[in-house]
Amino acid sequence: MLNVAKLREDFPVLKNNPKLAYLDNAASTLKPTCVIEAVDQYYRELGVNVHRGVYKLSYLATDAYEEARGKIADFIHASFEEIVFTRGASSALNLVAASYGMHTLQPGDEVITTELEHHSSCMPWIHVCKEKGATLKYVPLNKEGRITVEAFQSVLTDKTKVVAITYVSNVMGYITPIEEIISLAHKKGAIVIVDAAQAVPHMPVDVKKLDCDFLAFSGHKLCGPTGVGVLYGKTKLLEKMSPIEFGGDMADDVNPHSMTFKDAPYRFETGTPIIASAIGLGRAVEYVSAIGLEEIARYEFFLKQKALEGLKKIPNIEIYNETAETGIISFNIKGIHPHDAASVFDNNDVCIRAGHHCAQLIIKWLNTVGTVRASFYFYNTLEDVEKFVQSVKEAQEFFCSL
Ligand code: ALA
Repeated sequence: MLNVAKLREDFPVLKNNPKLAYLDNAASTLKPTCVIEAVDQYYRELGVNVHRGVYKLSYLATDAYEEARGKIADFIHASFEEIVFTRGASSALNLVAASYGMHTLQPGDEVITTELEHHSSCMPWIHVCKEKGATLKYVPLNKEGRITVEAFQSVLTDKTKVVAITYVSNVMGYITPIEEIISLAHKKGAIVIVDAAQAVPHMPVDVKKLDCDFLAFSGHKLCGPTGVGVLYGKTKLLEKMSPIEFGGDMADDVNPHSMTFKDAPYRFETGTPIIASAIGLGRAVEYVSAIGLEEIARYEFFLKQKALEGLKKIPNIEIYNETAETGIISFNIKGIHPHDAASVFDNNDVCIRAGHHCAQLIIKWLNTVGTVRASFYFYNTLEDVEKFVQSVKEAQEFFCSL
């Protein structure tokens, strides 16, 4: 069992705002003191560049940065050299499309994606397919808005070269049957890029078991600092990929009309890397690992079910994802715009997200303008759930009395 009261003490934002019910964890999680201290320690004790300086402080900074890479590799069961630090999950997904996609796709090739994608997962492929004359196909979602293996098979062909797919939808909270999809795609010779931004912070993820080709996630959704994300890539693919940015630290040999690059992952980390945030993320993965990802998943689901029970007792609520396996609820109060509802939550110190959640395709599929979304994490409590349900009631009373 999680000792939630004790865990909450690790979060200065919760200590400083005792009334806060922070239920926007799919957008960003709060940061524990140990992560803040790891970033602070780098700036106070090192503060210098990595990979370049021929002096002790720089060697220590390099060690701390590379140690973080190792921790993250262990966390998702990858090898050290398969971890590329990026600016975030979006940059990681864009890197694959701009490099692998732009250099390998041919006219007539097919790429599969879904309407459950975050913009960062589908938009790079809308762009690349247009540029390369490839066809972009969408997995038809079932009645609940889920990706099924059967529906995936219905669009998979011998021409499929790339599958860009979410592991957990940031709007619906559904878990994609990703292992089966990866295995089927591989039988056709296609590669699979997994957007795991909503998976890695909330459940155990093992890239070797999944056998995915690429997988992306961000640091700030995982108790880590902003401005850092991770691209996992199989070495044999990363080694074949060209960098998309050129400059400091990634070069091997530079001549007036030719150049060569360092091996992966360094060829993709152009310029001074995201040193402090990467070190902070290394600390964050240690922190959530110590809590236990299975326990986190179980507890978030428990809170989500409790919130769902409360919501279902209120009339005129449209819930879009009742069967979600994770800690995400998307709903609307009938007749009330999600942004209007959000103002009542805010008055009650309940942080939720309202709108299209950077996933317009699923919002259009749901035939709505946006949703109200609550997303739970391990530091949330049953009191947070109560405040949330109470705010739904108040929003409804307030707007329906106008
Ligand atoms: N992608 C993040 C969300 O779902 C920001 O809110």
